Amino acid sequence: LGEDFAEAQQKKANYDESQIAPYTLPDLLQTATGKHVSTAEDWTQLRRPEILALFEQHVYGKTPAPSTWGKVDFKVTEVKKDALGGKATRKFIHISLPEHPAWKGMEVMLYTPNGLGKPAPCFVGPSFGGNHAVSTEKDVPLSTRWMRPNKEKNIIDNKATEESRGNESSRWPLEMIIAQGCAVATYYYGDIEPDHADGWKEGLRAALSKDGAATEWKDGDWGAIGAWSWGLQRIADYLETDSDVNAKQLAVIGHSRLGKTSLWTGAQDQRFGVVISNNSGEGGAAIMRRNFGETTAVITKAFPHWFTKTYTSYSNNEASCPIDKHMLIALAAPRAIYIASAVEDEWADPKGEFLSGLNAEPVFALFGKKGYGVREQPAIDTPVGDTIAYHVRTGKHDVTSYDWEQYLKFVKRHFEK
Ligand code: GCU
Repeated sequence: LGEDFAEAQQKKANYDESQIAPYTLPDLLQTATGKHVSTAEDWTQLRRPEILALFEQHVYGKTPAPSTWGKVDFKVTEVKKDALGGKATRKFIHISLPEHPAWKGMEVMLYTPNGLGKPAPCFVGPSFGGNHAVSTEKDVPLSTRWMRPNKEKNIIDNKATEESRGNESSRWPLEMIIAQGCAVATYYYGDIEPDHADGWKEGLRAALSKDGAATEWKDGDWGAIGAWSWGLQRIADYLETDSDVNAKQLAVIGHSRLGKTSLWTGAQDQRFGVVISNNSGEGGAAIMRRNFGETTAVITKAFPHWFTKTYTSYSNNEASCPIDKHMLIALAAPRAIYIASAVEDEWADPKGEFLSGLNAEPVFALFGKKGYGVREQPAIDTPVGDTIAYHVRTGKHDVTSYDWEQYLKFVKRHFEK
């Protein structure tokens, strides 16, 4: 039903804690055969693969095996050594699948700090508006792909316009990130497929299927979040070949639906040493068993294409789902994970986002890693945590420089240890 339906539901949702029915979270540490997991080794060997498979089966669908997509081609199409007033080098990299030309490929934009004297830690995240929306540099090529209609952002007839340049730049403070000695790699999520129910027919998922768009996606097949996440993982493949980046220090980041994508990427691909969820909400960090803000019923009606088909069966039926989102956070262990909420973003259920991290702590403890250090949601603008961190900031659903200040500190703390 799309964006308008979701927006209309925002006014009707429950925002009253006292109206949340009691629930029990699935046990993180008990295997399918009933064994209690009490060591890091048992988690890694037994329970982690089980939980990953549950998320594939019930939530996001299974990412096809590498043999499905075959060779991945990286072509560096531009290197600009004096980007951002000389402070950074900007590269564009075209990533494509020579064996699947029906998929048009993706344009990665990479900024690395100049004069660092060593390979930089790198944030990797998708954008909503394209590279030209992330950067304010006028020579960034305008994306020609399908975009969600948005007059305010100067998206006209589903296309970016000159006026849409920089419209996402407040969410990507490139100068600040570069000044902190970090790199950024990003791509437009619509390079993978357009974000609407039929988008898959024109994107990667159809290009990789045996009969193109002829067969509908079935239970267990990957949804759009899985496909967007695949894009982030191919960026990691490229970064492993780029000597300006330290590919052992990658942080995956995303906001909202792309925050859900970031979490699923961190769960599947352990090359990301830091995982960041910005206001990911329902279908992301928020506990699905809490009826607060967006619900499973709403998200799977509005955006069924984000998930595998099976997920829809948990509408108003969350208790029968074998996972909840503390298990998604736990899949990041023992790597570092940051969950961020915004106080006015009640639709995303800030407390539910907090609780998933709190309830993932027993897994991090198996590795001797500490979580939040508090049991209650902290005060506004008061970050907490060690290997699992959390804040709820002043303001609305967005990514702000306050958020980035915390992420930069977090990434440095974890990678400089
Ligand atoms: C809608 C949707 C959310 C999503 C958000 C976004 O509000 O209901 O689940 O996170 O869009 O991606 O902006």
